[in-house]
Amino acid sequence: MFFLILATIILLCSLLLTGFMALSTVGLLLGRPPYVPTPQRIARLMVQAAKLLPHERVYDLGSGDGRLLLASLKQADVIVTGIEGNSFLVLLGRFRLWLMGKKGTILWKNIFAHNYSDADVVFCYLFPSVMKKLQEKFKKELKKGTRVVSYCFPLPEWKPGKTFQTQEKKPNNFLIYLYQA
Ligand SMILES: C[S@@+](CC[C@H](N)C(=O)[O-])C[C@H]1O[C@@H](n2cnc3c(N)ncnc32)[C@H](O)[C@@H]1O
Repeated sequence: MFFLILATIILLCSLLLTGFMALSTVGLLLGRPPYVPTPQRIARLMVQAAKLLPHERVYDLGSGDGRLLLASLKQADVIVTGIEGNSFLVLLGRFRLWLMGKKGTILWKNIFAHNYSDADVVFCYLFPSVMKKLQEKFKKELKKGTRVVSYCFPLPEWKPGKTFQTQEKKPNNFLIYLYQA
C-alpha cells in the first residue's frame, strides 16, 4: 500500500514537472521570458524601492510563484494582482497566497492583454525586448506618478529616478530600476 501511494505521488509530480517544462518551452518559443524567480532578498529590495502605501494597487507582470505579491503584502496593506501566462505558475502563486492567508488576484493572462491604468506600482522581471514593448504600453496607460520597478532590465527610453545595486561584485548588472510615470 505504501509503495502504491509513493508511486502515485511520484507519477503525479513527474506529470506536473513535464507539464511545467512543456509550457515553459512553448513560452520560450513564443519569445517569452522564462520563469526565473527573483531571489527573495532582491524581491524585498524591489518592494522597499517602491515605497508602498496602504491601499495602493500593485501589479507583478509575469508573477511566477507570486513572491513579489507576497513580499508586497508583507510590507503594506496593498491590493495585489499578478499577471502570469503559465497556468502552472498561476496555480502555484494562488496556492502560496492561500497558504500564507493573504488576499490577492493572479490572472492567467498575457501581460500585454491587460490595462494598467489603475496601477500605482508595477513590478517587472522580464526581458529587454519585452521592456521595449512595454514602455509604449506604459506611455499610453499608466497614470502620472505610477512607479515602475524593474529588476535587471531597464525601460530603454525612460530615465530611472533611481537605481539600486543588488550585488557587490557585478556593479553594472543586476540593478533595480525605479521609474515614475
Ligand atoms: C523572470 S520570471 C519572473 C517571475 C516573478 N515576477 C519573480 O520576480 O519571481 C518571468 C515570468 O513572466 C512570465 N511571462 C513571460 N512573458 C509573459 C507574458 N507575455 N504574459 C504573461 N506572463 C509572462 C513567465 O511565465 C515567468 O513566470
